[in-house]
Amino acid sequence: MPTMNSALKALFFALVQLQAAEALDNGIGRKPHMGWSSWNVAQCNSASAKYAIDTANKFISLGLKDLGYEYINIDDCWTTRSRDGNGKLVPDPSKWPNGIKPVVDQIHGMGLKFGLYGCAGQQTCAGFPGSDGSKHAASDVAQLADWGVDFWKYDNCYTPCLDNPPPQTCGRPNGNTKTWYAPMRDAILAVQDKHKIHFNLCNWGRDEVWKWGAEYGHSWRMSTDNWGDWASVERIGSSSAAISGYSGPGGFNDLDMLYLGSSKINADQERIHFGLWAIAKSPLVLGLDLNKISDWTLGIIRNKGIIAINQDSLGKPATTFTPPGKQGPVNGKIHPYWAGPLSDGVVIGLCAGTSGGTYGVSFKDVPGLSDSEYSWEEMYTGQKGTGKSISFDIKLHDMRVIKVTTTPRKIRGSTAL
Ligand code: GLA
Repeated sequence: MPTMNSALKALFFALVQLQAAEALDNGIGRKPHMGWSSWNVAQCNSASAKYAIDTANKFISLGLKDLGYEYINIDDCWTTRSRDGNGKLVPDPSKWPNGIKPVVDQIHGMGLKFGLYGCAGQQTCAGFPGSDGSKHAASDVAQLADWGVDFWKYDNCYTPCLDNPPPQTCGRPNGNTKTWYAPMRDAILAVQDKHKIHFNLCNWGRDEVWKWGAEYGHSWRMSTDNWGDWASVERIGSSSAAISGYSGPGGFNDLDMLYLGSSKINADQERIHFGLWAIAKSPLVLGLDLNKISDWTLGIIRNKGIIAINQDSLGKPATTFTPPGKQGPVNGKIHPYWAGPLSDGVVIGLCAGTSGGTYGVSFKDVPGLSDSEYSWEEMYTGQKGTGKSISFDIKLHDMRVIKVTTTPRKIRGSTAL
């Protein structure tokens, strides 16, 4: 007879296992995903085979694949306006003349991955067929698996609403978002032995998705859309700090696509946008036309040091801290001081979010560091140094991303700190 104690233990482990079985932990998404998405390029018009293949070629010719950019993701509008007689999604023949599979095969042949977009509601946000909760979830996933699709962004338009029929964006949802994301999560889990799919929840941060997202998907949008302007960068970037603790390997806060290369933000703002997304461990998903990218923007998205920080194996986002005597974070504004742990050090982000000037810190005031000398490297300017503090002149809306190394350095065969 088991004692009460051992019976309780058995129950506890059974519950833990049940929880683990429910979580979408299928071994992928251990690092923030990197890639490109069609949406910002030309909305519906860029959801085509031509854009997918062109972008895959650009990933190779621009050296992006070698830097870790991997997913070619097609967003809304890739299907026809209605399902076929068997209830299947139909790739729009004017955009996918040979269907989806040959494109996926070609992209896989280039060593890259391919993603598609769907919606938990009756229609996608642009009015194409949605999976409608449990109605089409299993059959849609079977189709994705047959085609070899690696990534599925799942939107939240036309979902159950107290207003009937549900509008595109519901102000009075009829239930918790989880309710309509669960059938798709379960459908993806059911095919995972055959084909693993990265599940990206796009519920725009509703119902505090960061608290439960890791049980449902590999990444989740934590805000409404990035519209590409400075106000979006401020709104999304600043709000990532408070929820950083929920993000980690297997489940990351998704700050939305990188809106670089448009004329909506200036050159310095592009650096803070990319740098902040990277240290917050957001997926790095390029939302721009790679045929039209400037050398400046290319330099930002190809910054090896910042990419390495984003892809660090620890997967822990940076968050804000306040050195003694400085003002604490202000809601909706980008705080100047950010720090986060890395597997071999600490990343410090210094952001001139509200005014240009001199920004610096003593390492003893930085979480994870102490009153010691450290080696550091700034990733945008390439400056390097050793010491107990750092200081930079930073223009309004620009940023410095500093990696401080804490692991022992080998010097001529011996180990030095
Ligand atoms: C929503 C999403 C966007 C994009 C569009 C497509 O607004 O949040 O990222 O996918 O739908 O219609």
